[in-house]
Amino acid sequence: MAHKARHRGPVITMLWNTDLEVKTRVAIGIGARQKLSNILAQIGSGKRVLVLCQPSTAVHWLRDLLSVLPQEDYQVTTLEVPDGEACKSTDWLIRIWEHLQERKFDRRDTIVALGGGSVTDLAGFAASTYLRGLNLVLVPTSLLGMVDAAIGGKTGINLQSGKNLAGTFYFPKAVLADQELLSTLPENQFKSGIGEIIKYGMIEDTVAKTTDYELGPKRMLDVLDASLGNAFEHDDPGLSGIISSCIKMKLFVVAKDPQEANLRRILNLGHTIGHAIETLSDYKVSHGEAVGIGLFLDTKYSVKQKRIDKAALDKVEELLAKAGLSTSIPSGISKEKVVNVMGSDKKREGQSIKLVLPQTKLGVVDYDVTVPLSDLSKTL
Ligand SMILES: NC(=O)c1ccc[n+]([C@@H]2O[C@H](COP(=O)([O-])OP(=O)(O)OC[C@H]3O[C@@H](n4cnc5c(N)ncnc54)[C@H](O)[C@@H]3O)[C@@H](O)[C@H]2O)c1
Repeated sequence: MAHKARHRGPVITMLWNTDLEVKTRVAIGIGARQKLSNILAQIGSGKRVLVLCQPSTAVHWLRDLLSVLPQEDYQVTTLEVPDGEACKSTDWLIRIWEHLQERKFDRRDTIVALGGGSVTDLAGFAASTYLRGLNLVLVPTSLLGMVDAAIGGKTGINLQSGKNLAGTFYFPKAVLADQELLSTLPENQFKSGIGEIIKYGMIEDTVAKTTDYELGPKRMLDVLDASLGNAFEHDDPGLSGIISSCIKMKLFVVAKDPQEANLRRILNLGHTIGHAIETLSDYKVSHGEAVGIGLFLDTKYSVKQKRIDKAALDKVEELLAKAGLSTSIPSGISKEKVVNVMGSDKKREGQSIKLVLPQTKLGVVDYDVTVPLSDLSKTL
């Protein structure tokens, strides 16, 4: 399928330095994907380029992306991996290694991921491990991928015993977040990304206070409040700005704490409860939907602890409802099991767990709260 980029608004390009001295170029906006060829030149890519895609992006966007890579400059091969979590496997990792080896990729050559978070996670892991590191460029195609999975340098695959159990920290040389790619994204996946975006709104003030992130003229929660529910879709003119703020927040947090020693935990607001729900639903509840429920329950717990007013909980409920996201644990999942799964989370300390909780007003959080599991059980 051929697509023409509509040029509405500039493509914002940032050059990002993390504390690890890695430079990531980030381009955001409609048409950002068309910078791929320039970006490959800027990062000094070798001639060999492997584009990893998934069935949906192979149908909708692969030809379009390949059309921006001049054949005389690059030897491009493609690999289509299975949809969703199925691609984050040792089998697919080995297939990618073999593909690279058969085509004699060297360390200057590049893996480009064209897909949602599952493809960018797999591509990152493969790029970080083959020859101890190839160039990596991510072109996230889901909203969740743009605001979260493609940003921050975490890569991973699943093992039989659990999700993301094998992984590395490896920063892409560039991320091209092009809103137009969202035009083919199914509605439930778009909603899943919004769950994650609401989380960013709920940590924005603390991120601004603790990093160099600057608050814009309008706080993200106010923008979301005004936009969500009013047929807010992939082509909303405000979406690029929202994506850009989320990416900046994550980059600023990750730059300060790349390996999650302290501040990076702030990104886990809503995620501890969310992960438990996602796992117990056998991933039928999407990541962002589960995070939405987690955001509501974390805020509810904060109200109970008198950390924040009940009005804040009402606002979170209203935002989630406008986004079409749920606030309650799905009926087939028992609350006891949710607490049990949270008890096996890596953030557990004895009979307590570390949580990020809203504090004083929405936008502000305390990211180092120890909560007894028994207490949480009562709130749920
Ligand atoms: N590395 C990180 O920091 C990080 C953070 C959050 C999530 N993740 C990982 O990301 C994954 C979830 O991300 P996701 O929801 O993007 O997953 P995904 O890749 O499974 O994509 C979700 C669905 O949307 C479809 N899709 C994606 N882009 C499309 C498009 N433009 N048009 C049509 N269909 C499209 C896919 O085919 C898939 O069915 C999980 O594996 C999770 O572990 C990683």
